[in-house]
Amino acid sequence: MVKVLFVCLGNICRSPMAEAVFQNMVNEAGLSDKIFVDSAGTGGWHVGESAHRGTLGVLKRHAIPYNGRARQIALRDLSEFDYILAMDKSNLANLRHYADGSTAEMRLFLSYAYADGSVAEDEVPDPYYDGRFDYVYDLVNKGSAALLQRIRQQNGL
Ligand code: 4NP
Repeated sequence: MVKVLFVCLGNICRSPMAEAVFQNMVNEAGLSDKIFVDSAGTGGWHVGESAHRGTLGVLKRHAIPYNGRARQIALRDLSEFDYILAMDKSNLANLRHYADGSTAEMRLFLSYAYADGSVAEDEVPDPYYDGRFDYVYDLVNKGSAALLQRIRQQNGL
């Protein structure tokens, strides 16, 4: 099983959206028994809460289900997951701080889509502050497609 973890700050806006969109792509590709998907936040303020209504709204408009609850990342995640994808550079710096010995591929989530030219920025801006959930959805959708292609290539899926 290839294990993929999306990470943002609160685990209520960006990383749950990425988890839902990527899981949906994995399902549509018939790979749900090969790729496990989860998300977490570096901060613990929203632990146990459902996703932000802005994230739930945009997912609903695109008919993508999500019923996860926020959780904070734990040290064991760094050794259990194969791909750990940070939404922004601050999240990535926090992860790397604790990542000694982790063999995971730990990168910016958008780095794959940025490299293939499908997006023009390598960070997902936080819609918690500006409400741009539709714009974030577009980035997440493109980022997920490029990530899935990468994982399929690297793992022969
Ligand atoms: P997220 O957005 O990291 O995309 O889930 C945020 C959610 C909550 C907070 C910050 C960012 N907060 O400060 O509570």
